[in-house]
Amino acid sequence: MPYASFNPPVRTLMGPGPSDVHPRVLAAMSRPTIGHLDPKFVDMMDEVKAMLQYAFQTKNELTMPVSAPGSAGMETCFVNLVEPGDKVIVCVNGVFGGRMKENVERLGGIAVIVEDTWGDPVDPQKLEDALKKNPDTKIVAFVHAETSTGALSDAQTLVAIARRHNALAIVDAVTSLGGVPLKVDDWGIDAIYSGTQKCLSAPPGLSPVSFSERAVAKIKARKTKVASWFLDLTLVMGYWGAGAKRTYHHTAPVNALYALHEALVMLQEEGLENAWKRHAELQRELRAGLEALGFEYIGREGAHLPQLNAVKLPAGVDETKLRQILLNDFSLEVGAGLGALAGKILRIGLMGLACNRRNISLCLSALAVALPQTQTTAPKAAQA
Ligand SMILES: Cc1ncc(COP(=O)(O)O)c(C=O)c1O
Repeated sequence: MPYASFNPPVRTLMGPGPSDVHPRVLAAMSRPTIGHLDPKFVDMMDEVKAMLQYAFQTKNELTMPVSAPGSAGMETCFVNLVEPGDKVIVCVNGVFGGRMKENVERLGGIAVIVEDTWGDPVDPQKLEDALKKNPDTKIVAFVHAETSTGALSDAQTLVAIARRHNALAIVDAVTSLGGVPLKVDDWGIDAIYSGTQKCLSAPPGLSPVSFSERAVAKIKARKTKVASWFLDLTLVMGYWGAGAKRTYHHTAPVNALYALHEALVMLQEEGLENAWKRHAELQRELRAGLEALGFEYIGREGAHLPQLNAVKLPAGVDETKLRQILLNDFSLEVGAGLGALAGKILRIGLMGLACNRRNISLCLSALAVALPQTQTTAPKAAQA
């Protein structure tokens, strides 16, 4: 059967990720593929590592991109740090905390769940209580920025509590990296993973990770082999290690790494603090516009992510139809609710490059046009 080349439509990506990718990053990706052990490529890998250390605000030697998406970064943290029988407190306040629990259980760990309402941040007091009840806890795990609900948890406080109880802290920073303040070394985070497709605005498919010396010591002291060959850090370290003679572990996704390199160069040009500030400032504009249209933010005030706006639909609005109009008529992608929130909320991303005034204006004007077309029941004011 004769297939034609695939030419994707040009979209504006304001969903939960991937976010818009800058033409500079796309251009970098199309440069000639070279060998992944070529000395020039190895030099570029060293730069990627240094720029990731900057993005994570860490000096951790073991900082690198895993050659697979954010879920693989999550698995890298758990599969290396959790041994059968280890007790792990997992804070669950949305979809991704639930996946952490799944990881712990599949590895033979004992998951103790600290639960919070979807939309709310992780409650530090609940974590403190759980650690007091479970003094044999080895690891605490939580999601910094819950993409399923738009909740930002206080990572600094949660990690400090974990450390006071001698537990290591694993932090999901898939959506937080580059969008909100995150300081791996200052906060004492032991293992962290992210994704390239959110606030870094690179294409999906790589997962930056970083491990503290304490985490590396736990990995080195393991009594059992790491259950995954591909994600076993003791093997990957030979590939990404400092000044190490690079040996073959797997074929690195060469062009995807060019893209990440360029995205990190752009982050460095803007400056990390400026990127955090841009996300915070522009979200205020988006929020004012969304509220004027009748959308209501879910979750606790003061814990809303700038880069992921989870908003309840005005009464009587057909969510699927609304997103269809945005996509078909405005080529604008926004996200649907997940799990219990499906059909009830929109998730509007303001991530990385997509976090700009032009996008905000497009989104608000598209919603203003689409909303009246999707109202299945008359709004309350009109009924009165
Ligand atoms: C908070 C969080 N953790 C983990 C993941 C998984 O990342 P990926 O889809 O790149 O595997 C996502 C993806 O959206 C996420 O938002």
